[in-house]
This record gives sequence, structure tokens and C-alpha cells, in this order.
Amino acid sequence: MRSSTLLLPHVILALTTPSLCISLDRRNWEWKRALSLWTRADERNVPSEGYYDPSQSGGSMLTKIPVTFPMGQGEPINAIITGSSDSRVLVDAEVNGGLRNYFVSFGFSGECLGQHSGSDQEANLGDGNGFSKYFSASLRRDSVSQSLGISPENETGVIRWAYGDPELGTCKETIQGGNHFRYWVQDGPSANSGAIFLAVSYEKPIAEQHDIIPNGYNLGRDWLVGNITQSAIPTLNLTNSTTYTGTTSSGGYTYETSIRYVPGLLANSSDGINHNITVGVDGINAADGLVAVLDVRITQTPPTSSCCSHVACDIVIVATIFYLLRVITVVPLAPPIMSLWTPSLLKLPRTCVL
Ligand SMILES: *[C@@H]1O[C@H](CO)[C@@H](O)[C@H](O)[C@H]1NC(C)=O
Ligand SMILES: *[C@@H]1O[C@H](CO)[C@@H](O)[C@H](O)[C@H]1NC(C)=O
Ligand SMILES: *[C@@H]1O[C@H](CO)[C@@H](O)[C@H](O)[C@H]1NC(C)=O
Ligand SMILES: *[C@@H]1O[C@H](CO)[C@@H](O)[C@H](O)[C@H]1NC(C)=O
Ligand SMILES: *[C@@H]1O[C@H](CO)[C@@H](O)[C@H](O)[C@H]1NC(C)=O
Ligand SMILES: *[C@@H]1O[C@H](CO)[C@@H](O)[C@H](O)[C@H]1NC(C)=O
Repeated sequence: MRSSTLLLPHVILALTTPSLCISLDRRNWEWKRALSLWTRADERNVPSEGYYDPSQSGGSMLTKIPVTFPMGQGEPINAIITGSSDSRVLVDAEVNGGLRNYFVSFGFSGECLGQHSGSDQEANLGDGNGFSKYFSASLRRDSVSQSLGISPENETGVIRWAYGDPELGTCKETIQGGNHFRYWVQDGPSANSGAIFLAVSYEKPIAEQHDIIPNGYNLGRDWLVGNITQSAIPTLNLTNSTTYTGTTSSGGYTYETSIRYVPGLLANSSDGINHNITVGVDGINAADGLVAVLDVRITQTPPTSSCCSHVACDIVIVATIFYLLRVITVVPLAPPIMSLWTPSLLKLPRTCVL
């Protein structure tokens, strides 16, 4: 391979990134995550349910925890954001209406002061990636970040109830306990739905080793759903055909979420569930066998973002790539799209954002 070819991604990034819809003065990890904006959604192949059942291809709806008593127990993965959701929501970023912003819209945010606490749980979503710790597996396969030598995030994202304060509220959750979840993306080569799988549970205060409260998996799931619908969810009365809708907003983005409770993915059982002795109480199984399946639409975007749409960004990116290819003569002549490019295009998204 010619050295100019290797250089190319770096050059393109250096020249175009400041003008994209990405704020460079954010922390590095966030910037890396935003890179996944470049990952094309059309690599995905979304079945009508919006996800693939992990157990159909060697995966599991139970997580893997390094040490449990007895060994081998896991937490139920009890919510799914479908791959048919708005593709902006399926990007693990705060910008552009991404997943992190969606979480904030119903009261959850990242870990206390960026710290990571809690055990590293893994999930095998049956997508060919095996057990994965990564909360954003898409980064791992993102050719742009790979060519830059950016190593994938090697930790599970833990999102906690923010007690109404996205900045410091999760510190309170870490100490006092509360609702939280870990999540994984189903985007491996054999089942690339792009769906996001969540293991939600309500934990006790740190002083009690973050055990799970009685019925804390089912309740955690339903309090999260209740935060989306802004109404109490009757956990004990849910059936295999219960549905809800809810509308939430953050950062100028409005999300409409359709929720259905789906049977058959998880067993209605306490068997193999971590802390099952204290969580499964009063004849209620630690996992009631229902998974909350969330389909998310973006119904409103901030006014400034309209001209900084994917289309505008994409035109700039594509045109710039062709321009650079031409400049360093990797290809003799870039096709008619070249005529779209003018240097002032680079200013377009920046003007829209700032
Ligand atoms: C990622 O986690 C694995 C397993 O815990 C560990 O062996 C490896 O060193 C970690 N890699 C990085 C880059 O931290
Ligand atoms: C929202 O979440 C909090 C924390 O988990 C919970 O206490 C509350 O009941 C939830 N709201 C609804 C309506 O479910
Ligand atoms: C659950 O269903 C029972 C029986 O239909 C009813 O009496 C009760 O009010 C319901 N509970 C909730 C929280 O909806
Ligand atoms: C849903 O529940 C009803 C009534 O309990 C039952 O007859 C039906 O088989 C269930 N459907 C599925 C898909 O589990
Ligand atoms: C789960 O099983 C219990 C009995 O073990 C039953 O009472 C309950 O209705 C079941 N839940 C669902 C959602 O099917
Ligand atoms: C908890 O799960 C284990 C398997 O991991 C099982 O042997 C045990 O019976 C379960 N206990 C309860 C109370 O369901």
C-alpha cells in the first residue's frame, strides 16, 4: 500500500473534523465516540422485530459476571432499544440527538464524574462477537478509528438514575443506590441489527455492596419505562401484550418511544439470576420473563440542527474525500460529485452549529 493511502484518513480527518457537527473541546473519549457518527447505518440488517434473539445463535439474555455466589449467575437483559429506531439514537453519543442524550431525556446519565464503578459484566448477543464488554461495539469495528490507532473502549457503560441532576446526580446514585443499567450493541457480523440491549436493575446503597432490591430487575425495568411514559407501570399486572408510549426531551430533541412487553426472550424464572434468593420474593420470579422493547423516533430537533443535517455533513465529507483523493492523485479523476465541492462548504456545518 502506498504511504499516501495510509496517510489519507488522517489528512481527511484533520481537515474536516473541525467543521463537522462535533465539538473538539470535549473530552477525548467523547470525541472518539462521536466518530461513530461516520459509521453507516445501512450496514445494518434489521429484522421486523427490531433485534435478533441472542439465544437463537449461541448468545444469552443473561449477562456474565466475573464472580457470583454460586458461580455462573447473570443479570437479566430486560430492555431493548430496537434497531428500527431512529439511526441517530443508535449512535452512542451526546451530540446529534444520540443515545446519551436520549438517556438524559428520561433522567439517566453517565457515571459519577466519569468514574467507572461496578463490576465488568459481559454479554453475548449472539451476533458473532462473542462475549463483549464494550458498550459501543460499533467503535471497535469503525475503520476510521482503527486507522487512527484508537483502541476500543474496554469497559461497560453503566448509566445511572441522575436524581434530576445530569452533572452530579449519578454520584448520589452510586452512594445511595438506585436505578441503573449496562448496555451492549448487537452489531456483530452475524446479527447486525444495531439494537441496544440493556440490563436494568435497582440497586441498594453502596454500604450494602450494591445488592439488588427485592424484585429489583423487574422494578428497575418498569421504573425506567415509567420515566419514559411519566406514569406508574403496574409491574405485577403486565402481560405479554402490554404496550405504552411516552414522549421525552433533552437538548432540543424530542423522542417518542413506543414500548411493548415481549415474552419468550427471557425465562419467567429466578434460575441463574444473580442475587435470586433476595430478589425473587413473594412468589414473583427474579425475572418475570418480559423484556421491554423500545422503538424510538425523534419527532423534534433543535432549530439550529436543521441545516446541520446528516445530508449537509455527508455532502461535505464525501466531497472533501473526493477532493483530497484528487489532490494527492490517488485516483486520477474523481467523478462528477467533485463539482459539488467548494472550500466554503466546510463552513456550512460550523455556521449551523455555532
Ligand atoms: C481489556 O480487558 C481485558 C480483559 O479484562 C484485558 O486483558 C485487556 O488488557 C484490556 N485492554 C485494555 C486496552 O485495557
Ligand atoms: C422514575 O425513576 C425513579 C428512579 O428509579 C423512580 O423512583 C420513579 O418511580 C420513576 N418514575 C415512574 C413514573 O416510574
Ligand atoms: C392489577 O390488577 C388487579 C386485578 O385486576 C387490580 O385490582 C389492581 O388494581 C391492578 N394494579 C395496578 C397497579 O394496576
Ligand atoms: C400471552 O399470554 C396469553 C394469556 O396468558 C397466552 O394465552 C399466550 O399464549 C401468550 N402469548 C405468548 C406469545 O406468550
Ligand atoms: C410468571 O410466572 C408466575 C408464576 O410463576 C406467574 O404468576 C406470572 O403471571 C408469570 N408472569 C408473566 C409475565 O407471565
Ligand atoms: C438461583 O439460581 C441457581 C442457579 O444459578 C439455582 O440453583 C437456585 O435454585 C436459584 N434459587 C432460587 C431461590 O431461585
